Amino acid sequence: MKTTKDYLLAVESSCDETAASVVKGERRIISNVVSSQIDIHSCFGGVVPELASRHHIVNIVPVIREALNRANSLDKDFQGFSNLKGIAVSSGPGLVGSLMIGLQTVKGMCLATGLPLVGINHLEAHLEAIYAVQIESTEDLLEDLPPIIQSPYVALLVSGGHTLLINVKERGRYNVVGGTRDDAAGEAYDKVAKMLGLGYPGGVVIDKLAREGNPRAINFPRALPGRKHRDFSFSGLKTAVRRHLQQNGVPKSGIELNDLCSSFQEAVVDVLIQKAAFAMEDEKATTLVLAGGVAANSRLRERAAQLARERGWRVAFPPLSLCTDNAAMVAVAGARRFNEGRFSDLSLDAVCRSLPGNDM
Ligand SMILES: Nc1ncnc2c1ncn2[C@@H]1O[C@H](COP(=O)(O)OP(=O)(O)OP(=O)(O)O)[C@@H](O)[C@H]1O
Ligand SMILES: [Mg+2]
Repeated sequence: MKTTKDYLLAVESSCDETAASVVKGERRIISNVVSSQIDIHSCFGGVVPELASRHHIVNIVPVIREALNRANSLDKDFQGFSNLKGIAVSSGPGLVGSLMIGLQTVKGMCLATGLPLVGINHLEAHLEAIYAVQIESTEDLLEDLPPIIQSPYVALLVSGGHTLLINVKERGRYNVVGGTRDDAAGEAYDKVAKMLGLGYPGGVVIDKLAREGNPRAINFPRALPGRKHRDFSFSGLKTAVRRHLQQNGVPKSGIELNDLCSSFQEAVVDVLIQKAAFAMEDEKATTLVLAGGVAANSRLRERAAQLARERGWRVAFPPLSLCTDNAAMVAVAGARRFNEGRFSDLSLDAVCRSLPGNDM
């Protein structure tokens, strides 16, 4: 039987998700397995790095095996390692202990098989999630691919560790034009959720409660307003929520809790949308892309779509399942890098901080 070497395996372990995915060609995701550690970290109100690393060690081989098996069940042409052209892995930014588990596992596989190693910047992977096409059945494999989002565009990358405005001149070329001076938007969600006793991660829960609340019930501050500032700041908002809770007590449920979540969320989303609009105007862009875990937020998506409608811009979001950490986004970024012949060597190291575009 003829073997098609048009598949790439990708691994992601930068925080508390252990994930593996197989992509066919450049964009067809034929398996996407994510093992989350939420239950382990939830009672601590945030990720405990040492626990995250230990659980990656336990999970990584079963997750990779599952991704290879699912790829084979969906696409009979895929037989496993013999069809792979390379292996991609997130090498940062993230928790170094967590990254090392994915990195060392992939390096071992590359060493054993001779397959090329493709190091991927985790933030670049978040941005590349919009190109992924999830294949659900064998029939889907035969469908034409949807058109690709055309660059240039401005991306608002909002995740647990980052809040960035990026001018993407062309795919793979990034110019950061704004960022947070303190907390990331996702971090603010998680910290406010912790104050409210809503567990970790907080974004999804606050998003859900906020839908039932009044966004104007409490007037929380919007930091660094106006066109003069390209940057974000969420620490003052976090303090304002803390003060409100000290003065009024922590609502356990009902309208009070919904109003608080809704007012906090509106303060975050107002600033994200205002700065994104300024960046779009300044960069003369006509397409706005949202990426990262907070891009799953229903209010942010709604407001971004409304903004785009009003201005005659296009807006694009990854599917909900590809906003938070996953390996499908690493696979798509990896397939592009592979095609460009940009491989890494076995000295590839884990880095806790870097920006998209920093070479791996
Ligand atoms: N619906 C939602 N609304 C708001 N925030 C959300 C939603 N869903 C997830 N989040 C937030 O997204 C964050 C997780 O996103 P992601 O996985 O991209 O972050 P990370 O990988 O931890 O950080 P980074 O990518 O910066 O290293 C969490 O802070 C979580 O609360
Ligand atoms: Mg992430």
